[in-house]
Amino acid sequence: MNTAYIHPRTVITVQTLRDMKRKQDKIVSLTAYDATFARILDDAGVEVILVGDSLGMVIQGQSTTVPVTMDDMVYHSRMVARGCTHALLMVDMPFLSYTTPAQALTNAARLMQEGGAHAVKLEGGSMQAEVVHTLAKNGIPVCAHLGLQPQSIHKLGGYKVQGRGDDAREVLLDDAQILQDAGADMLLLECVPAELGSAITLAVEIPVIGIGAGVECDGQVLVLYDMLGITQGKTPKFSRNFLHGTSVQAAVSDYFQAVKAGTFPSAEHSFR
Ligand code: KIV
Repeated sequence: MNTAYIHPRTVITVQTLRDMKRKQDKIVSLTAYDATFARILDDAGVEVILVGDSLGMVIQGQSTTVPVTMDDMVYHSRMVARGCTHALLMVDMPFLSYTTPAQALTNAARLMQEGGAHAVKLEGGSMQAEVVHTLAKNGIPVCAHLGLQPQSIHKLGGYKVQGRGDDAREVLLDDAQILQDAGADMLLLECVPAELGSAITLAVEIPVIGIGAGVECDGQVLVLYDMLGITQGKTPKFSRNFLHGTSVQAAVSDYFQAVKAGTFPSAEHSFR
């Protein structure tokens, strides 16, 4: 495998991501919802920063992504854009914001013009081909989100692995091809068997970013709060807590103890 180093100061475009796929250089992606975390991710060289509609759950405390609005996405995108100077800034189109090509175009334009997005992501298979085509022909980079589609949670009836069984597998492989042909620049593949993640990655020319789709995808994305171990409740099987040594919870607990014990602030944190 070629692990050629892409300098973190490179400004990432959809073309860069295609080149990375060709060179088998893994694409690293994380979500961010504010400028401070966006800056940390950007400085670390993360290539794609996603303002995910997962913000409905991890920021707003909702139980699904369904209540997230266009105004929410524009607001958070604008903040993340301020911390993002090299990464490609991808922003989710929220629930029911792309039901027709015309509506999708208006809303994607808002995310780019008001929110500073470089690319938009939308959920759905081949039925979104016309929307993807309209956005693509108007110069808007699009990522099509396949597999588990959280905006359809009430129809799916739960966060379950998708694409199991021959028929479901074929549908996903076809969807990937159709969306690529419609002009998608990227695919995001959520919660499918690793073998299918690999097959789709091999079948298409555009980069495939996986989350719970196995190690063979062209890149990986995680929800930032999952990988920092601060998501409330159960974290998905596909995530890992990368906050080594300490934890955000431990830091808050230490602060609590220090204030109670009168050991914070000390002289070094006080003014003369
Ligand atoms: O909204 C989100 O955070 C996502 C994840 C799958 C990365 O789409």
